Amino acid sequence: MTDITELTLEEKASLTSGADFWTTKAVDRLGVASIMMTDGPHGLRKQSGATDHLGLAGSVPATCFPPAVALASTWDAELAERVGGALGVESAIEDVAVILGPGINIKRSPLCGRNFEYLSEDPLVAGVLGSALVRGIQSKGVGASLKHFAANNQETDRMRASSDVDPRTLREIYLRAFERVVTGEQPWTVMCSYNRINGVYASEAPWLLTDVLRDEWGFEGLVVSDWGAVNDRVVGLPAGLDLEMPSSGGRTDAQLVAAVREQRLSEAALDLAASRVLDLVAKAGRRAEVAGPLDVDAHHALAREAAARAVVLLKNDGGLLPLRAGASLAVIGEFARTPRYQGAGSSLINPTRLDAALDALAADADVTFAPGFTLDGTGDAASLRADAVAAAAAADVAVVFLGLPAAEESEGYDRTHIDLPAVQLETLVAVRAANPNIVVVLSNGGVVALPFRDDVPAILEGWLLGQAGGTATADVLFGRVNPSGRLAETIPLRLEDNPSYGSFPGEFGHVRYGEGILVGYRGYDARGLDVAFPFGHGLSYTTFSYSDPSAVVTADGDVDVTVRLTNTGTVAGREVVQVYVGRDASAVQRAPRALAGFASVELAPGQSRSVTIRVERRDLAYWDVRIDRWVVEPGAYTFEVGASSRDLCGSVAVALEGDLVVLPISLNSTIGELADHPVAGAMARQILEVLDQAGDGAAEMMASVPIGRVATFPGMPITLEQVRELIDTANADLA
Ligand code: BGC
Repeated sequence: MTDITELTLEEKASLTSGADFWTTKAVDRLGVASIMMTDGPHGLRKQSGATDHLGLAGSVPATCFPPAVALASTWDAELAERVGGALGVESAIEDVAVILGPGINIKRSPLCGRNFEYLSEDPLVAGVLGSALVRGIQSKGVGASLKHFAANNQETDRMRASSDVDPRTLREIYLRAFERVVTGEQPWTVMCSYNRINGVYASEAPWLLTDVLRDEWGFEGLVVSDWGAVNDRVVGLPAGLDLEMPSSGGRTDAQLVAAVREQRLSEAALDLAASRVLDLVAKAGRRAEVAGPLDVDAHHALAREAAARAVVLLKNDGGLLPLRAGASLAVIGEFARTPRYQGAGSSLINPTRLDAALDALAADADVTFAPGFTLDGTGDAASLRADAVAAAAAADVAVVFLGLPAAEESEGYDRTHIDLPAVQLETLVAVRAANPNIVVVLSNGGVVALPFRDDVPAILEGWLLGQAGGTATADVLFGRVNPSGRLAETIPLRLEDNPSYGSFPGEFGHVRYGEGILVGYRGYDARGLDVAFPFGHGLSYTTFSYSDPSAVVTADGDVDVTVRLTNTGTVAGREVVQVYVGRDASAVQRAPRALAGFASVELAPGQSRSVTIRVERRDLAYWDVRIDRWVVEPGAYTFEVGASSRDLCGSVAVALEGDLVVLPISLNSTIGELADHPVAGAMARQILEVLDQAGDGAAEMMASVPIGRVATFPGMPITLEQVRELIDTANADLA
């Protein structure tokens, strides 16, 4: 590998920014190759011709796997890892060194235009599935780019807005998934986001890019800017930004060179960044040859498997589903013929093929199709509706495809509401009057309100399912695949119920994360709000029972939660067993329950199995802002086990040893705080005893009074001087 000392100052500067939209610069004289990094995340988007200035022109055909919103609904790391592996293979065949994904930002609001590209409102789901994707990609000798680091949870003003987040919320909600993936998988690259965090651009934040990412988490790879996220490269580089993408045409390289010459930037910082680029190029060079061409059929089959596993059966009253082969079906809705299968923006894949649900359904049933509405709202709505009603009236079952037209959600802007187009809802009402046996199939990247949920017997949430979504939907509708998808985000009754409502998307360049840690289901649960369908929900064509929950603390301090799961129905099926943790009393605000572990388990009819889920001690900790550390509180933890966050089938309590937190004390420490202190505790308890004798709750009242003040009160068993000495002794002991 080339040694950094062999490079001139100019070469080092040039190496740390792109050659064009997608590649790094070569240094021919030293044999340093140029490598390609390109989108991502749910398929390869490698531009076929010359790159245009926005990098959005046509790309080579690639398998469009289910976007993150759908893949996350599988809650299955093994499957996600296989999809990651396929992404790696496609990248390798096209000689792409790094694929730009996965995106693991938390879905703070259903309005975020890019939610289709993100996994979950929960950091554990996002972290576990994000890890699996990275593992899969990198197993093929291709690098992942974990994005967008960090707190990039909206598209509104995304290149400037400051996400104003308190430190505990940042750590527990918005950084936690990144931490899990970085520490567990060492992605080759991390992509810093466009936005500012508490006023500082992510691309210029030493705290984020160096202190946390490298010093705390041990990241060994390279930090690349999001495309165009560099504000001031001379500030960004020493903060930890190694590579600017895309090319700045040499402009910012010259700034770096000048800054080093004028001693405004240390050459050592530039050396570090350039050596990380050299490392990345070397890693990419070690990839074994992958023989093309792409096995289009095999990858399409995997896309179909993943899509069918992602479908969430929200409702199935009276067992309307699965459909009978040969049934007479009215298939209604333009989406059945013209699938909406991925989101818009930088992740737009040019699929190798595209399955429409209409064709797949027609292969197994007697189908009459009526578009029911147009996607852009043009056309004669009344006559389209009349045709749909006529088709429904003549059929056994009406399968109605509703969804968000592509223009309603995209990278680059947020939604302003979560409603389906009125024309579609009106068609549904009319069809229902003609035939109540309705199955609604939804295609949407972000959550939509479901005002009709009580009026139709069956609803299938299809999200955006990728290129094989049409056949996968038919697989589920006919029961060839028993649905096992689970909601990785809550479907609320109303947008106004969402915890971020009122502080999303902010104003004048700032968005205040006012709901703190109470994001998604944590917030709905804390406020006791009804929801349309809760986090973790999803039905099956079979039924499961849970019994005998138990828990043990392992030698490492983790908790193994075990439950017996039985398939009590008549068909094979897959259940996602979920473990939530809560505490009755805590020093810090807690959500009523937080996901602590999960497992996807397949059982034959009548089969019973004991399922053990490991809950990592680290996932039980809170971020203590007094000492900037993760802390596990001592005492009882309740583990609830069940099929969703609101379908809990059993619980078990475990007492844990806590982490010792000894804080420096001062005259401002209260008597109550000092009562358990190893050095000052005896004195504090003595004071409380004296007060206790006074009766009338004096001890309780005085518990919140600082020791410096109490000591000055008459009749106290200690003087201010003695308190000062005690403080010195206690703190000296600490040091
Ligand atoms: C997006 C990234 C993407 C990059 C390159 C940016 O606008 O935010 O997710 O990887 O463009 O296309």
